[in-house]
Amino acid sequence: MSAPDPSPERPQRRPRYVGKNPRKFAEKYKEHAPERYAADVEKVLASGKTPAGTHRPIMLREIMELLAPQPGATAVDATLGYGGHAREILAAIQPGGRLIAVDADPIELPKTEARLRALGFPPDTLLVRRMNFAGLAQLLATAAPGGADLVLADLGVSSMQIDNPARGFTFKADGPLDLRMNPARGQSAAALLASLSAVKLEKLLTENADEPHAARLARALTATPAPITTTTVLATLIRAALPRPADAELSVRRVFQALRIAVNDEFAALDTFLRHLPQCLKPGGRIAILTFHSGEDRRVKHAFKAGERDGLYATIARDVLRPTANELRANPRASSAKLRWARRAAPPASFDSAALSAK
Ligand SMILES: C[S@@+](CC[C@H](N)C(=O)[O-])C[C@H]1O[C@@H](n2cnc3c(N)ncnc32)[C@H](O)[C@@H]1O
Repeated sequence: MSAPDPSPERPQRRPRYVGKNPRKFAEKYKEHAPERYAADVEKVLASGKTPAGTHRPIMLREIMELLAPQPGATAVDATLGYGGHAREILAAIQPGGRLIAVDADPIELPKTEARLRALGFPPDTLLVRRMNFAGLAQLLATAAPGGADLVLADLGVSSMQIDNPARGFTFKADGPLDLRMNPARGQSAAALLASLSAVKLEKLLTENADEPHAARLARALTATPAPITTTTVLATLIRAALPRPADAELSVRRVFQALRIAVNDEFAALDTFLRHLPQCLKPGGRIAILTFHSGEDRRVKHAFKAGERDGLYATIARDVLRPTANELRANPRASSAKLRWARRAAPPASFDSAALSAK
């Protein structure tokens, strides 16, 4: 028997499945390589949905206007995801520009990097790093010592992460209760849940998601005879614990959000990122941040206000920007998005960047 051809040109055989359409995510094949099925992707987009395996960049036009990327610029995408924003920024900063793109997700990042490279962005134009954006200042200290002209952070999770049941982000399909952006780090949501007392879980649900039924849910979820290890079991237990089914779906969403924030330590990462952000920007440099819930937006708003008061930002968004009605119709996943921006002040003559990093 001859050895299989290792050539990357040969398309991979799709998984076998029973019946007319694949049922399990692992058996699906378009979702794992959407770029090969352009016509299907167009059809799904036209119906107002996000094709699985892809992510639609939110408030793209507004972000491009605010960040105003110019040829030759040094840009940072702190949350590369599918690379939708990155692709536009990369095109706008040519010739001569460079995008430094980071993401914590080891599963999606190589696919996105391969897609962007295939579009013609080599390493001297696009630097990709798998890391938490909390460490951005350290990366820029060597990768862009003068700072960036613009930084984008589009917080939260990507559609690819949500749509893959094996990642545990969705309660709409059965999967392990994981919820980590980097499954190789920290503990899964199942392990966290198993380790919490009712009092601690109630606190977590309140602090991370303003869950109004936190006490009742915490009691129910810590009194189960067996550990909760799958997404659908958790969703079923939440529904069963609440008296009104109308309340239940929002609570399911909020409990998943609260656990996701906890296992990824999202607030600590965002606080660190916001604290070091001014030193990541050149004088006059711009930052835009998309948030998806009040815990994120509050942090961004306060950090920008404090930065303006301390003279680190010359101007900041007075009001939050929201997606247009058209965008919301075309992409319901944009519904909770809020966009804030700031512009770095020119440092005074006595500016001491070492003191800033120590702050
Ligand atoms: C909403 S998606 C970004 C989508 C992207 N703008 C696009 O157009 O495709 C958010 C991404 O940020 C990543 N992420 C979230 N928190 C992170 C963190 N603290 N450090 C690095 N990446 C993070 C997630 O893994 C996810 O891929």
